Amino acid sequence: MPIRRVVAVLVLLAAFSPATRAQDARLIERGKYLMNGIVACGNCHARRDQEGRVQPELGLSGGMLFDEEPFKAYAANITPDPETGIGKWTDEQIIRAFREGIRPNGTLIGPPMPIAFFRGISDDDAKALVAYLRAQPPVKHVVPKSEYRMQLPPAYGPPIKEKIAAPPRSDLRAYGEYLAGPLGHCMDCHTPWVQGHPDMARVGAGGNPFKGPWGVSVSRNLTPHESGLKAWSDAEIARAIREGRSRNGSPLRPPMAFDWYRNIDDADMKALIAYLRSLKPLPLGGGPAAAKK
Ligand code: HEC
Ligand code: HEC
Repeated sequence: MPIRRVVAVLVLLAAFSPATRAQDARLIERGKYLMNGIVACGNCHARRDQEGRVQPELGLSGGMLFDEEPFKAYAANITPDPETGIGKWTDEQIIRAFREGIRPNGTLIGPPMPIAFFRGISDDDAKALVAYLRAQPPVKHVVPKSEYRMQLPPAYGPPIKEKIAAPPRSDLRAYGEYLAGPLGHCMDCHTPWVQGHPDMARVGAGGNPFKGPWGVSVSRNLTPHESGLKAWSDAEIARAIREGRSRNGSPLRPPMAFDWYRNIDDADMKALIAYLRSLKPLPLGGGPAAAKK
C-alpha cells in the first residue's frame, strides 16, 4: 500500500476508534447535563406554543420574542439545520458566538443573551455544549429578524485567546461561583442593573423587574441578609431553585428556568449554596450604592 494511503487509513481508524467514540459520548453526556440543567439555553431558545409551553419535539429551534424597548429580539434557531439553524458553523464558530457574541459573518448578537457571563464558560464545558447541540435533530424554522433601536457595543470584550479552565470542584465556593456566573448566569438577573449592566459591587442583591404574561416579578435578594437567604435552610434554597417555591411554599413566577434547574445534581447544588452563603450581606437592591442610578 502507498504510504499516504496507509496514513489515511490509520487516521480514519483513529477517528472511529472506541476511545474517540467514548470521549465523544462523554462530551455529549456532559453537554446534556449542562443544557438540561444549570445552563438552560432552552429557557430562551426552546420552541414554544401559543401558551408559552415548551414543545420538546421541536428542540432549540427558537422564535421566542423578547419585546423590551428599545429592542424586539427573537431567540435564534440553534439546531443543526444548515439553512435556518447553525448547521454550517464550525465548533469554534459556535463557541465564539455564545462566549463572545460574534457570528461567523462578524455581526454581533444582541441582548438579552447573557454573553458577559457566558464569556467565562470553560473550554471543556464549551466543547460539551457544542457536542450536545450537534447531536440534536435539525429543525427547519425561520425566525424573524431581531430589531435593535439602540447602539450595540462594538464587542463584548477583547477576543478570547487564553485557555479557560473551571475552578476545581474541591473548592466549593469557587466552583459555586462558576455555576452561578458563567454557567447559570443567576447573577445576571439577581444583581442590580445600572445603565444596562449588573453592578458586581452589589452581586446577588436582586431587585430587577421582569415583565411578562405573568405580570411583573422582581428578582430576589440571594445574599445572606435578613431580606435575603440568611434564615433559609439549604433544603429550602434547593427547593426554590429546583421546584420554584419560595420559603413559605408559594410558587415563584418566571422567568427563572425551574423546569431545567430541577436536573441540577446534589454536588452542584451544594457548591451553588456554598457560594450564595459566601456573598456579602446586602439589603434588597444593594442599599445606598443604588443611589448611583
Ligand atoms: C436570555 C435569553 C437567552 C439565553 C439564556 C441564551 N440565548 Fe442565545 N440568543 C438569544 C436571542 C434573543 C438571540 C438573537 C439575538 C439577535 O438577533 O441578535 C440569540 C442568539 C444566539 C445565537 C446566534 C444564532 C444566529 O443564527 O444568529 C447563538 C449561536 C446562541 N444564541 C446560542 C446560545 C447558547 C448556546 C446558549 C446557552 C449557552 C444561549 N444562546 C442562551 C437569547 C438567549
Ligand atoms: C432570568 C432571570 C433569572 C435567572 C437566570 C435566575 N433567577 Fe432566581 N429569580 C428570578 C426572579 C424574577 C425571582 C422572583 C420570582 C417571584 O417573585 O415570583 C427569582 C427567585 C429566586 C429565588 C427565591 C428567593 C425568594 O426569596 O423566594 C432563589 C433562591 C433564586 N431565584 C435563585 C436563583 C439561582 C441560584 C439561579 C441560578 C441557578 C437563579 N435564581 C437564576 C430571576 C432569575
